[in-house]
Amino acid sequence: MDWSTFLLALLPAVLASLYFWSSTFSRRKNFPPGPTGIPFFGNILSFGKQPPVTMLRWKEQFGDIYGLHVGRKPLVVLSDFNTIKKVFGDDAAAGREQSSPIRHDIATGAGSGLIFSQDDLWRTHRRFALSTLRDLGMGKNWLEDSIIAEVEGLCQTLRDTEQKPFDPKEQLTNSVSNVICALIFGQRFDLKDPKFTQLTTMLTTNIQNVDVEGLAEVMPFLMWFPNRVRDRVMTVRRNLRSLAVFFKDQVDEHARTKQRDEVVPDYLYAYQAEAENRSKTVAENTFDEPQLLSSLFDLFIAGSETTSTTTLWAFVYMIENPEVMWKVQAEIDQNIGRDRVLTNADRGLLPYTEATLLEIQRCASLVPLSVPHTTRSEMNIDGYIIPKDTVLLANLYSVHRDPRYWEKPEKFDPTRFLDEKEKLIRHEGFAPFSVGKRACLGESLAKMELFLFIANLLRSFNLRLPAGKTLSHEDYHASVVNCPNPFQLIFEPRT
Ligand code: HEM
Repeated sequence: MDWSTFLLALLPAVLASLYFWSSTFSRRKNFPPGPTGIPFFGNILSFGKQPPVTMLRWKEQFGDIYGLHVGRKPLVVLSDFNTIKKVFGDDAAAGREQSSPIRHDIATGAGSGLIFSQDDLWRTHRRFALSTLRDLGMGKNWLEDSIIAEVEGLCQTLRDTEQKPFDPKEQLTNSVSNVICALIFGQRFDLKDPKFTQLTTMLTTNIQNVDVEGLAEVMPFLMWFPNRVRDRVMTVRRNLRSLAVFFKDQVDEHARTKQRDEVVPDYLYAYQAEAENRSKTVAENTFDEPQLLSSLFDLFIAGSETTSTTTLWAFVYMIENPEVMWKVQAEIDQNIGRDRVLTNADRGLLPYTEATLLEIQRCASLVPLSVPHTTRSEMNIDGYIIPKDTVLLANLYSVHRDPRYWEKPEKFDPTRFLDEKEKLIRHEGFAPFSVGKRACLGESLAKMELFLFIANLLRSFNLRLPAGKTLSHEDYHASVVNCPNPFQLIFEPRT
């Protein structure tokens, strides 16, 4: 076949796909305008390495509400705080995507657990998770004590580095993961335990690779032959399966050692007790093992990587703004002293430190696009008609840089969270945990952890860069969680 015959043969396919593509758009009357996509791919190839940044630029062009496509799938991006608050407060916007090339079976979370379930399954299990975590100790002493024990263990590890350049990521992730392990399994692991490190490393790898999901969805044929996208999807799937085996072992171990009629000591026991109760009283009991495994996954993943990566961001911003670090240290020295560990009760005495933590969260915008929601029914958002099953993205990165709420948004300035009397204020347009029905269910735990980890680390160490090295908040990997690229620091003890 010569070239002209080949092209002629190809033409009907091209015309058909263009017709198919244009009819997709013309059918969506009153859908928000947005950047033009290309057939088959939609806008995905224009997202670039840092999609939230690209999306912030599109906001400047198309406004607070605009439409995109990933393949043929419609997506609406919301960039204004008040619009997000209104839309995410509505049950119709509380859905999640039910299929994914990565979480392709129930054991790895497709449509189950806490993050990816929806409707009654999600409502029942979110309610149970919130009340169980509250009963178990969010805001109670034993939880604070176990966080402080982790902080002290981490400080010792950092002291042991003897001021040699050290990448803190692994030990930090292990320490934070131990807090969530205490809550859900009633168990902690040695910070240097290689098996535990393997698990937390899998977790980190997965968080950094889930962004491959969109490409695998738009080009499913990439899964048929060896290539980079396929390799990344397979890595994530393999890690999810290994993590599932770890959780299953914990579940079986708990079932073996179940202590009836005793105070519920962890999430897993509480779940098993609830499952038993419901099996006697509820006709359709969704408290089964797949749902349990998926929920454990979600708590472990959502509860580990988020807090530890925020602490890494704290290091980056303190290196970039040493005068802020010195001011935090001076506030701690003056109000508490250097000799004892900081507890939650000290927070009220440390407004500048608290303001610094909030500014770190604003600038990092850790979960920059929140977790995608989907519409459960047609919605009218400010006059635009959004069909059922449309993906809604809240661009929190853009919200945290919105000049309508933040003066000089690019500047790192903790005082924006303080009033003229140096008292902490609630700032409109601040939403690191998202808002509405699906807002983060670990928010109060996360806030306590962030204070205890970051404030105690700054109380205990001066942070310095190794000679000849630089560090910038612009050097990061964007995925579902924005994570600074690996770096080393010198931890100089202050006490
Ligand atoms: C700095 C720490 C954290 C940040 C910035 C953060 C942020 C977020 C965000 C943006 C969402 C998506 C909300 C939405 O879909 O609108 C979310 C959901 C969630 N987070 Fe967090 N999170 C943090 C820590 C935690 C912790 C410690 C836990 C565990 C106890 C946790 C558990 C969850 C769960 C289970 C969901 C899903 C809620 C649902 O779909 O109903 N998070 N988080």
